[in-house]
Amino acid sequence: MCGIIGYAGSRSCAGIIYEGLRKLEYRGYDSAGLALVGNGGVSTIRAVGNLESLGKELRRNGHPDASTGLGHTRWATHGRPSVENAHPHSDCSGKIAIVLNGIIENYADLKESLEGAGHRFTSETDAEVIAHLVELHYQGDLLQAVHRTCDDIEGHFAFCVVHDDHPGSIAGARRECPLLIGIGKGEHFVASAIPAFLTETRDVIEVGNDEFFLLTPDTAQVFDADLEPLEREVTRVQWSEDAAEKGGYETFMRKEIFEQPQALADTLAGRLPEDGDVVLEEMDISDTELAAVDKVYVLACGTSYHAGLVGRYVIERWARVPVELDIASEFRYRDPVITPTTLVIGISQSGETADTLVAMRQAREMGAKVLAITNIMGSQATRDADGVIYTRAGLEIGVAATKTHLAQIACMQLLALKLAQLKGTLPPGEVAAVAAELRSVPGLLERYLKSEAAAHDIARRYFEKPFFLYLGRGIGLPVCLEGALKLKEISYIPTEAYAAGEMKHGPIALLEKGSPVVVVATDGRVYEKVLSNIQEVRAREAAVIAVATEGNKAIRDFSDEVMYVPATSEMLSPLLAVVPLQLLAYYIARLKGCNVAQPRNLAKTVTVE
Ligand code: M6R
Repeated sequence: MCGIIGYAGSRSCAGIIYEGLRKLEYRGYDSAGLALVGNGGVSTIRAVGNLESLGKELRRNGHPDASTGLGHTRWATHGRPSVENAHPHSDCSGKIAIVLNGIIENYADLKESLEGAGHRFTSETDAEVIAHLVELHYQGDLLQAVHRTCDDIEGHFAFCVVHDDHPGSIAGARRECPLLIGIGKGEHFVASAIPAFLTETRDVIEVGNDEFFLLTPDTAQVFDADLEPLEREVTRVQWSEDAAEKGGYETFMRKEIFEQPQALADTLAGRLPEDGDVVLEEMDISDTELAAVDKVYVLACGTSYHAGLVGRYVIERWARVPVELDIASEFRYRDPVITPTTLVIGISQSGETADTLVAMRQAREMGAKVLAITNIMGSQATRDADGVIYTRAGLEIGVAATKTHLAQIACMQLLALKLAQLKGTLPPGEVAAVAAELRSVPGLLERYLKSEAAAHDIARRYFEKPFFLYLGRGIGLPVCLEGALKLKEISYIPTEAYAAGEMKHGPIALLEKGSPVVVVATDGRVYEKVLSNIQEVRAREAAVIAVATEGNKAIRDFSDEVMYVPATSEMLSPLLAVVPLQLLAYYIARLKGCNVAQPRNLAKTVTVE
């Protein structure tokens, strides 16, 4: 949550920082701001709303002389979105400016004592205490002041500071929240995520946990917790620049939906050799340990949780290992039963979600082996785990997750196959058959996406409905949950997703003539049962929108609308069935005129508990 960027160099930097913020806007878009260090000292420019408002301010006065600066795009935690609460925040003298990503948990006590010492606060934010603490501790050395500030603050954070006395420098620190340094020629960048400076440089060093940094145009230094300098290897990032561009699509979400065949193919590449073992490369968990696993426990939030739910069906079916799941924010408040033979899987696209990280750490402390499934190399989740399975979906910018979800499901399927192999619960021939089928899914998806118009037509007929019910059974249930989440988060239409068999125990009361009910009715062992549930819906004159397997003509007699997906075996069906639901949500949101790119109140990465 919140995106930060800094530039220290010799070029006029307002435009560079603004462009960087454009790439970080998915992290928050309540308000945004810049601090520019130029001839007139440190100037801050802040605006409420998305970056366009800030852009207007900048066009009025872009401080072309400034060649050092900070930028911030905010997702409000402490204090409503307003100019006063927007970052950067300044100290009393106006010589210092800071930007923060994260939360300062003890800010109230600090603010009280700083105010007692005469500091004047101008915002309701937790972040502002950092500006005043740096002011308090500053005795000529900016890095030392940052270091002392970190002794005072509690929480998880990444922050950057500029000071009028050090016009070419940026100092900062991180605890938990990410911070990457981009190395240019005679210039340096610092940001919450690499896309912020990817068009400028691909050479990156990381600021580690509890570390500090100091940037000037010519030097980029990282320091440990005692301010001892550290040697950091420079990594050359291979991501394509297009990843952070819409490439002709109207939104990132649409682009990413259409990138799913590639995301899936990349996630599977090299991991399913023709006649060999499933290969999961970054696993520091031995095959012997995996073979001994007698319980799997999945921890995740939102869409990642739904991928975990799909994983439950697949692991239990193929590997015969019981699977438990927890919404990560609930895990620590129960008394979960974890043993050394429990495999805990934390699923997180960003690898930064605070709830998931806390739960993973707790599980590890309890003695479990912890595996992370994430899309982001080097993210915190990868450090807190004994093994990693990377989703290779490429950068996902759309706030509503799509391609990473599909890749997460694929990773769970790969893991299930691996466990089945090690435990001997699937004969080798069957493993090979599943592997071959999995390899064919990207092609099927490609074909499906060429004929996605059905979803658009259906969206046109139903987008004004005030409520959607989603029903599914078995492995179709997590697909419904995900479809319902997609629709509510981007169109704001209330949705409910239910196990189809459970509908008659309550939600059926919601149905009236014409109520849209989306039913996942793909082929599988529960298909006939789902048909019975469809009949119950029809008997209430509600409108059935079915997702069904190609070739199933009979479903037309039971449904008002059908979205057909290519046939697969049941355990692979979510990889196809969820896509029409993504598209349906997308088209409905667009028809309602919603801002799909920036759904209200949401952020792509949720780094607060
Ligand atoms: O980065 P993570 O996968 O840990 O994020 C978890 C959720 O915040 C995320 O899936 C959220 O539900 C998305 N808005 C879904 O579209």
